[in-house]
Amino acid sequence: MKDVTAVQDLTAKTTSSRVSDTSVSRRFLKPFAGESLSPPPMWLMRQAGRYLPEYRATRKEAGSFLDLCYNPKLAAEVTLQPIRRYGFDASILFSDILVVPDALGQRVTFAEGEGPRLQPIREVAGLARLSLSNAGEKFAIVWETVARLRQDLPKDTALIGFCGAPWTVATYMVEGQGSSDQGEARGWAYRDPAGFAQLIDILTDASIAYLPGQIKAGADVIQIFDSWAGSLAENQFQQWVVLPTARIVAALKAAHPEVPIIGFPKGAAAQLQHFVAGTNVDGVSCDTSCPLGVMQAVAARGTVAQGNLDPLLLVAGGAALDRRVDEILDAMTGKRFIFNLGHGIVPETPPEHVAQLVNRVRRNG
Ligand code: CP3
Repeated sequence: MKDVTAVQDLTAKTTSSRVSDTSVSRRFLKPFAGESLSPPPMWLMRQAGRYLPEYRATRKEAGSFLDLCYNPKLAAEVTLQPIRRYGFDASILFSDILVVPDALGQRVTFAEGEGPRLQPIREVAGLARLSLSNAGEKFAIVWETVARLRQDLPKDTALIGFCGAPWTVATYMVEGQGSSDQGEARGWAYRDPAGFAQLIDILTDASIAYLPGQIKAGADVIQIFDSWAGSLAENQFQQWVVLPTARIVAALKAAHPEVPIIGFPKGAAAQLQHFVAGTNVDGVSCDTSCPLGVMQAVAARGTVAQGNLDPLLLVAGGAALDRRVDEILDAMTGKRFIFNLGHGIVPETPPEHVAQLVNRVRRNG
């Protein structure tokens, strides 16, 4: 608890950028107030990234990927790049879900072209390396990026803050890298559920310390990324995805009831209604394999559905892209809906295909 208080003190010192904004009505937020818009608001996961030449240039200037995440000026710059090009309705803070383990003391590196590397934690004794009391310094750098963005973004562009969900962040901490089946984390959770719960609790507390600072600095919406939710059995999904997410949502709602929260339990379309009911999120991001009928059902029950174009169609472009965009719009227009991809933009995506997509969604082309 002492740890959490230290970070909360830092949060209190973050200058609030929200106050001057309350009169602005951002169209991105309207579906959360029950309005359906045509065309729907849109943004794209990983809209800032390697597919953009201007991102590659700034990334080079920054040095390593984490150097970019911890440089408020350059992180704000790459956040703005896709907004300048495409005028999306929302921008997402440029950072990474692995900033949280890094700030807790489990150092993260990104090997060029290979993804993240961490010194794995495989048992409860390894948790002694983690401490929330020192995390505030790195969190404060990210909050500064958010505050800069709120100043520099167009006033009608919403700003999304985020964190990784405890389960997904834990998989990287336990594996030490990305993995195809999250086997080490699932194994620990079965072998020693009480010990694994300690790791999940640390990450839940860290998220509850981290996200309010993003909101105070100017984030209008929070998204919680649970990219590996789909690898869990039903009872494990309840324990490691639904309950920790519900605790984060309850803590944010207690302090900031006006800020919508979007969950992204990737790969868990069959459990989507259960996830919504169990976590109290305001919206769900739906992956590419989620049927449009499931998204319609979620929206009909009062939750915003976001998604779910295949990022590979954005590489293919052409008539196939247009056809699927029209199918999604036909199914979701008139509902509480935000247009997005089912997962992040891949680096091979031609920027002109993103322009084609934006024109199609906005019925300009
Ligand atoms: O534009 C945005 O969406 C905001 C920024 C953002 C990044 N990562 C930037 C990034 C966000 C929201 C994330 C979330 C994230 N990070 C997730 C959850 C969403 C998902 O994709 O499933 C996960 C699992 C991570 C962890 C992570 N970060 C991995 C596995 C990798 C390597 C894979 C890759 O694409 O290279 C990263 C690196 C990363 N995060 C990049 C970017 C733009 C590429 C790094 C580079 O520039 O070299």
